[in-house]
Amino acid sequence: MGIEFVDLFNQWASSYDDTVNGSDPEYKEVFAGYEQMLQELADIAISPVLEFGVGTANLTKKMTDQNKVVIGIEPSDEMRKIALVKCPEAAIYRGDFINFPSLQTPVRSVVSSFAFHHLNDQEKRLALKQYYDKLEADGEVIFIDTLFKDEAYKQQLIQEAEDQGHLNLAQDLREEYYPFLEDLEQMFLQLGYVVSFKQLNKFAWLIHAKKGE
Ligand SMILES: C[S@@+](CC[C@H](N)C(=O)[O-])C[C@H]1O[C@@H](n2cnc3c(N)ncnc32)[C@H](O)[C@@H]1O
Repeated sequence: MGIEFVDLFNQWASSYDDTVNGSDPEYKEVFAGYEQMLQELADIAISPVLEFGVGTANLTKKMTDQNKVVIGIEPSDEMRKIALVKCPEAAIYRGDFINFPSLQTPVRSVVSSFAFHHLNDQEKRLALKQYYDKLEADGEVIFIDTLFKDEAYKQQLIQEAEDQGHLNLAQDLREEYYPFLEDLEQMFLQLGYVVSFKQLNKFAWLIHAKKGE
């Protein structure tokens, strides 16, 4: 479910780290402050951590460097190969946000960076419901991802991308499942989480949801 983009990620794997470090002008602003954003998430994640959409394990590595126990889930074989070399300390399995190997370990944080928007609304809800049931009583979901503050801001971002000639980015902003802040907030609240949002760059937000009473 929600893994229709995997071929694209297999092809992107070998150059992915160059992209997040700013080599592609079109996506430079999307990943502006990438290392600091991931560090901020890594610092607040509580071990044991379950991470989805590990990619090349840049977030994973920051957490294992802090001696946190991390179980990673990644659907792309090519991404996973790079991740296993970069971060042998983590257990990284094939799977996705919804279908992943059953875990014996208790989980206190479910984390993900730049990946949750691959799920449509129905899939997002299904995934967040599973995590609520799986998390320990003091558990948290902590994501970094692109979202839109509102419709006007979405149109502004698309217009700016087009004005800069960033037509792939403009198309992504139109077609991918980036949520509106209010809709995502409602989804978390309806499932019983207490959630807060913090903008990190022009596109990316930190989404921090705690399991309610
Ligand atoms: C933009 S990369 C982000 C990688 C890494 N988390 C980071 O911050 O650099 C998105 C990752 O999500 C993975 N992905 C795509 N669809 C997914 C799904 N349905 N479930 C879990 N991961 C998915 C991709 O294979 C890719 O590795």
